[in-house]
Amino acid sequence: MPIPENIIDQIQARTDIVEVISRYIPLKKAGRNYKAPCPFHNEKTPSFVVSPDKQIYHCFGCGAGGNVFSFLMRHENIEFPEAVEMLADKAGVVLKRVSPEKKAQASFANQLYAINDSAAQFFQANLANNSAARDYLSSRGIGDETAKKFKIGYAPDSWDLLINFFKKRNIGDDLLEKAGLVISNERGGHYDRFRKRVIFPIIDLKDRILGFGGRVLDSSLPKYMNSPETYIYSKGRNLYGLNFSKEYIKKKKYALIVEGYLDFIIPFQAQTDNMVATLGTALTIDQVKLLKRFTNTVIMVYDPDEAGEAASIRNLDLFISEDVNVYIAELPAGYDPDGYIRKFGTDDFSKLIKASKNLFDYKLDKVASRFNIRTAHGKAAIAGEMLPTIARINNAVLKSNLVKRLAERLSVDEESIRTELKKVKGDYDQRHYLSSYEQAWKSSATAEKMVLAILLEGGDFVTKVKNALLLEEFKNSSIRDLAKSIFDLNSQDKEITPARIINHLGNNDEANILISEAVNLSDILTDKERVLADCIARIKKDNIKDQLERLQTAIRAAHESKDEASLKRLVSEYNGLVKSGKQ
Ligand code: CTP
Ligand code: MN
Repeated sequence: MPIPENIIDQIQARTDIVEVISRYIPLKKAGRNYKAPCPFHNEKTPSFVVSPDKQIYHCFGCGAGGNVFSFLMRHENIEFPEAVEMLADKAGVVLKRVSPEKKAQASFANQLYAINDSAAQFFQANLANNSAARDYLSSRGIGDETAKKFKIGYAPDSWDLLINFFKKRNIGDDLLEKAGLVISNERGGHYDRFRKRVIFPIIDLKDRILGFGGRVLDSSLPKYMNSPETYIYSKGRNLYGLNFSKEYIKKKKYALIVEGYLDFIIPFQAQTDNMVATLGTALTIDQVKLLKRFTNTVIMVYDPDEAGEAASIRNLDLFISEDVNVYIAELPAGYDPDGYIRKFGTDDFSKLIKASKNLFDYKLDKVASRFNIRTAHGKAAIAGEMLPTIARINNAVLKSNLVKRLAERLSVDEESIRTELKKVKGDYDQRHYLSSYEQAWKSSATAEKMVLAILLEGGDFVTKVKNALLLEEFKNSSIRDLAKSIFDLNSQDKEITPARIINHLGNNDEANILISEAVNLSDILTDKERVLADCIARIKKDNIKDQLERLQTAIRAAHESKDEASLKRLVSEYNGLVKSGKQ
């Protein structure tokens, strides 16, 4: 434990989860709890519940859950100690700075940052020595200054120059592999991941190098080679170039979203600097949130021959749920932003940006061109594609305006659009969740979750479960660990709160989800005494059944090997068990 548990408990006790979460998302009171659309997945109907009594949150839609620290960790993309630090001040708790354990933990990430930094220097030095690579960059219109700013480098044509570079610095292959810089072969050796490629470092908002992308100098394949997911790099959580462009995005009040490294670098060099690049992958909700810290308006710059226009447009609904205004700028066929600016210049590019259409109009045009808008069938199909987009808009006035425009475009009355809109599927709700539980509780897996839910109530319930069940009787090992933790706290006469148990188990995802799910479950259980008795019986019965099966196998084996002594013992054990099961 990097930070002493009693300190964490203190901070926890002086912090209100409702207050903290409402700094990020607007919470609405619903009974004893608070509700909101879940910040961790896209939804229209709020299924994200915050419990002030239990000091935990849970989403019935995506299963996310945990205490106030877990929320910060996920929302701010930070580690547990950082989350604790964030709340310590306000709670009036003074943290001893940087314990050795915390240092060790941070140092793994720092080690990887340092390795990436050295690797970038290695690549940059190699660029300086390689005229083919420098020629390639200048052929792409990248000047020396730009190359320096973006820390562009070159990975030499070798299997082990990088490995040897690090060997001299006492950094082994295993660590390099964790940084994603080398790949292991079948013989247990390693080789350089990036070879004979121009290297683009991927840099975060704190100016740390997270990973790299490397492009070939010719037309060989694959065109790009990228760092894998590592301890510090997750593709879907970062946007290329944001470290360079964030201030420009704030100033210009909108961001251009492009796809590739060059599509970022070339316009940026030409003062179109309020950009980010997704690096060729589908946009994620984390990326949308990251960008939202700087602007609420984005313009997607697409090449029209883009694979699956429909698919990429669907993805843009992510922005709508986040209340971001989306516009689409369409480039002429065969051009990407890099190619377009190089050929026509920045002024034409700006014109094209100014001519961008808002997402609704753009999508409607695209969809309308795919169906026959004059037939009833075609109208229904177009409405079917547009309604999910409209449904995601939170603002009622805007929504109503779009309903009107869709009705006009299709020449149907608004009322019928409204009727269809109501049918667009909402997200999970609590009642639905409970009924699925009620159906399922007859399995011991669900029964174990129910027992956990009731255990979290603390007090007499804990004693009851302790007397009735052995830890070994829980089949789900996570629930077993949780039960152990609860039993321990109970025997130390410590108060049992879900938020505290989450910390006790080191804030691990699996436990958080189980606990928050269980807490919400227990909120809606009416007769806890009865449910507990039923569930304990169910778990015992299942265990007995398992044991009987095991004994049967053993009996058969003893019988076959004519082991009379064992046979006798096993049969009597079997009969004893059958009897106990009947009680
Ligand atoms: N990409 C990738 N792996 C590939 C192809 C593409 O990771 N095999 C990513 C890169 O980040 C690339 C982006 O997707 O920048 C867009 O791909 P594409 O349009 O094919 O490449 P460009 O960026 O236009 O590359 P270039 O202009 O250098 O040909
Ligand atoms: Mn390109």
